[in-house]
Amino acid sequence: MKHHALPNRSLWFLLAASASQTLLTLVGWIAFTWANLLNPISSRADFPMNIPAASEHIDTHSRGRPWEIAVNHLALDLTADFQAKRLQGEATLTLKVAPDVPKETHLYLDVKGLDIIGVAAVGPVGEPERPLSYRLDGNDPILGSALIVTPPEGDPSRFATTRVKITYRTTPEAGALQWLEPVQTAGGRHPFLFSQSQAIQARTWLPLQDSPGARLTFEAILRVPPELTALMAAQRLQPRPDDPPGLFRFRLDQSIPPYLIALAVGDLAFAPLGPRCGVFAEPSVLPKAAAEFDEIEAMIAAVEARFGPYRWGRHDILVLPPSFPFGGMENPCLTFATPTILAGDKSLVALICHELAHSWSGNLVTHATWRDFWLNEGFTVYLERRILEQLYGPERRDMEAVLGYESLKQALKDLPEADQRLYIDLTGRDPDDGLTEVPYEKGALLLTRLEQAFGRERFDRFLKDYFDHFAFQSIRTADFVDWTQTRLFPLDPQAAATIDLDAWLNQPGLPADAPTPRSNRFEAVVQVADQFARGQLPAEALPVANWTTHEWIHFLESLSDRPNASLVADLERVHHLFHQGNAEIRQRFLMLALRSDPATAWPHVERFLGSVGRRKFLMPLYNELIKTEEGRRRAEAIFEKAKAGYHPIAVDSIARKLAQAAGQVPPANVP
Ligand code: BES
Ligand code: ZN
Repeated sequence: MKHHALPNRSLWFLLAASASQTLLTLVGWIAFTWANLLNPISSRADFPMNIPAASEHIDTHSRGRPWEIAVNHLALDLTADFQAKRLQGEATLTLKVAPDVPKETHLYLDVKGLDIIGVAAVGPVGEPERPLSYRLDGNDPILGSALIVTPPEGDPSRFATTRVKITYRTTPEAGALQWLEPVQTAGGRHPFLFSQSQAIQARTWLPLQDSPGARLTFEAILRVPPELTALMAAQRLQPRPDDPPGLFRFRLDQSIPPYLIALAVGDLAFAPLGPRCGVFAEPSVLPKAAAEFDEIEAMIAAVEARFGPYRWGRHDILVLPPSFPFGGMENPCLTFATPTILAGDKSLVALICHELAHSWSGNLVTHATWRDFWLNEGFTVYLERRILEQLYGPERRDMEAVLGYESLKQALKDLPEADQRLYIDLTGRDPDDGLTEVPYEKGALLLTRLEQAFGRERFDRFLKDYFDHFAFQSIRTADFVDWTQTRLFPLDPQAAATIDLDAWLNQPGLPADAPTPRSNRFEAVVQVADQFARGQLPAEALPVANWTTHEWIHFLESLSDRPNASLVADLERVHHLFHQGNAEIRQRFLMLALRSDPATAWPHVERFLGSVGRRKFLMPLYNELIKTEEGRRRAEAIFEKAKAGYHPIAVDSIARKLAQAAGQVPPANVP
């Protein structure tokens, strides 16, 4: 039980900003100990707890030291220069200083590729600014540098009353930012800019403590060309009377981890979808987007009914140009989404449910370090499926769950054992390496298992209490374990005895009692796929008339280990899948075609790779291409042409993959 040793004084500062919170934690600890005494069956005692609790914010991916001096609030004033492709301006930080810090304590921030112009102390209004001395320390290829600021008069307690203003500009190395030329947008007439801060890219455009445990609030001014609209994932404020055109104001009063700070600038229009929901997109994309997402309010209501209020005010969706490297990103108040979910039939809205669910799991209760990433994504996939079930019924939920389960099983085949753990060690690696099916699907299976063991009613109440209790906090896997063992396990000790949390969190693969999602509709699809693969059913006779997108995906994935050029030709002849508008279906068909008849597939793969920047679609295709020498050379050529259109995050992943395939470097970041 060494993890329960009471943290030392400075660590308490982190654990709880206020005395009352400290008291609550203490009460929780006593309650926990008591519950354990009463409940010897709890697997707690068996849990090899080398997992630190919230009090131990060891984030190996940040140089920040928020337990000494924490950035509480950020005031931004940035100008977007589309000619120079850079942001330039000021970040003014309000700080909180822990009591009794040693007098040599400095402020530590994370920066990567930022051009720091100056650092100044800003006192109360009327007092002149005074320059502060600072230095950059280290230059890690993954983490960047520490920006170390010396306190005014060498006295760190002065940081409590003096704000720190950093004047800076971004450089072409800003991994968070993508500056699009007009031709890369739907309208073709205006440039576009957007950010993607998760996982550790915030430091490439904001000088902050870039750790998910270092929560802050912010306000911002963005100055952009007057014909463009600027958005941030925050509350949008009315312009003030004297504001020039092109000046936009924002603020966010809820404290968030830095990876949720986001902006977008472009030719954007808005369509309301309800009193607190709407969609932004380029004007030509807007009608389709508005139709696709018109159930958003019902989705919010579905979560609120079970898991507590939506605490972020508005919930809008921004549809980005196709180079957006992810499917979706749960930026607060404003989900960022790929245009590839606009299937026209709402069949891909699981992604919207997913990003919405993050408003509880992730944005409200946040993983404190990238080791604990599964707390964000596993909970979110679980909630996403609950929303799907509520809105579209269990059949739909089951299909989505099976697709997730199948990709998890595939991933488990390919991943080293250490990376199959939910509580993964990412020290020395890019946190992006942890972005596998494991935190998502294995995490969701753990919650499904708990729901099965304790019953839905109890589990829902437990989850609601979890969101309330940890609201606006960043927590660690150990906090989840404690909470589960104190608040859930005692409700049914017999059920608790069947749950091996250590196996779920610390062991590779899946525990023997992991739930196995099943779908009746998919079982029928598999039979059809078998007949088709054996040549017993022609492409014309496939029962596609009532197939949903999910059935198509499952059908194509079921064929993937039976590549066959003539079947692919038949599918294309009858169903035109190379030109399918649904990107999920098209991508699966391209994968199958590449395996079956590469020469035929190549031009279609090239067209796809040149038009979409979503990494989940790109990586498997590049991976498949590089399996042969000829394919690898094509992949190189395609990448050379396409990379100007990809976001830096996607460029980086693919470049690493191709270099590895060419034998230029050892496998990146694999221990
Ligand atoms: N927060 C993630 C995206 C992310 C995670 C970006 C880690 C960078 C680092 C987002 O919520 C997400 O999971 N998106 C998925 C879609 C979802 C339906 C599984 C995606 O983009 O594919
Ligand atoms: Zn997510």
